[in-house]
Amino acid sequence: MNILPLKKRGLNTSRLVLGCMPFGGGWNSDPVTKEDETQAQKAVEAALSIGISMFDHADIYTRGKAEETFGRILKNKPGLREEMVIQSKCGIRFAEGDVPGRYDFSKAYIGEAVDGILRRLGTEYLDVLLLHRPDPLMEPEEVAEAFGRLKAAGKVRYFGVSNMSAAQIRFLQRALPDQLAVNQLEMSLARHDWLDQGVHVNQKAGTSVNFSEGLLEYCQMENIQIQAWGPLAQGKFSGNLGESEPEHIRKTAELVGKLADEKETTREAIVLGWLMRHPAMIQPVIGTANAERIAACKDAERQAELMTREEWYSLYVSARGSFLP
Ligand SMILES: NC(=O)c1ccc[n+]([C@@H]2O[C@H](COP(=O)([O-])OP(=O)(O)OC[C@H]3O[C@@H](n4cnc5c(N)ncnc54)[C@H](OP(=O)(O)O)[C@@H]3O)[C@@H](O)[C@H]2O)c1
Repeated sequence: MNILPLKKRGLNTSRLVLGCMPFGGGWNSDPVTKEDETQAQKAVEAALSIGISMFDHADIYTRGKAEETFGRILKNKPGLREEMVIQSKCGIRFAEGDVPGRYDFSKAYIGEAVDGILRRLGTEYLDVLLLHRPDPLMEPEEVAEAFGRLKAAGKVRYFGVSNMSAAQIRFLQRALPDQLAVNQLEMSLARHDWLDQGVHVNQKAGTSVNFSEGLLEYCQMENIQIQAWGPLAQGKFSGNLGESEPEHIRKTAELVGKLADEKETTREAIVLGWLMRHPAMIQPVIGTANAERIAACKDAERQAELMTREEWYSLYVSARGSFLP
């Protein structure tokens, strides 16, 4: 039986992760409203009620307000922290004055960023820290020093990355004593380059594919947990189809609906089940803050187990909008 890579490393996480990017209102300095607080509280309760124990943050989400809001939820329920696996990210800095938005993997900044994350969440440790986006100025030895200090101080248990290629991970890994545990990437029925890259080897059609070659296989071989951000494709196939979407996306949404009806399940479960059917044991990071939509994701793991090869390929080929080579 396939086991989640993070579980193999000893982290007792759920298969689905709740993404907390929408918590805390807008990406501005407006105060968090009572409604924002209530929505986040309901979302966390809905997630826990369907067995989700892992929560994904980043220091930048709603400019720190997402973590602060989550911190208040933790504070109000003693004991809740220990039931959860909490992940956050750092490394992206906002523009300041004339200085543009940028990435920063310097040891001073990583240390500062984690202290800010822990303060906002009101927790003493993070289960997982990810580097949010590759910093062209990354020096692996410097990152290793930062990670070493955080681990020794008991502030972070596991480290990982996001949006990185296999070459970038290998480059960083060679300086680190512990194996990187996670790579978080955009993957969904709408964003399927991660599959196209493999099926178009030696094909002209593959030149427009934008996914790092061999990354999927590399993560699988190195027991790196692949997490999918944007896994619901913003609801494109489950009730949020925009008017300008092309024909093949409309047809795919219809197919998702047909399968959901036949299997007496939700569209969300089919969309996520399709991702989870892949042998890489992908962990979808669902970004809905709507309690009902979170509940609608409950059946995803079962649908992944039930999904036939034929159903999986029908969804993939339909979402591609073109036949396989
Ligand atoms: N590592 C990275 O670089 C990175 C980048 C982006 C995000 N992330 C992480 O991944 C998580 C998920 O990303 P995401 O938000 O892009 O993914 P998503 O789960 O594909 O989409 C969630 C969004 O779609 C909306 N939505 C879903 N179904 C809908 C429906 N039927 N009708 C109307 N709206 C619907 C949700 O609104 P409602 O809230 O109203 O349901 C929400 O705004 C984030 O929370 C964050 O933790 C990571």
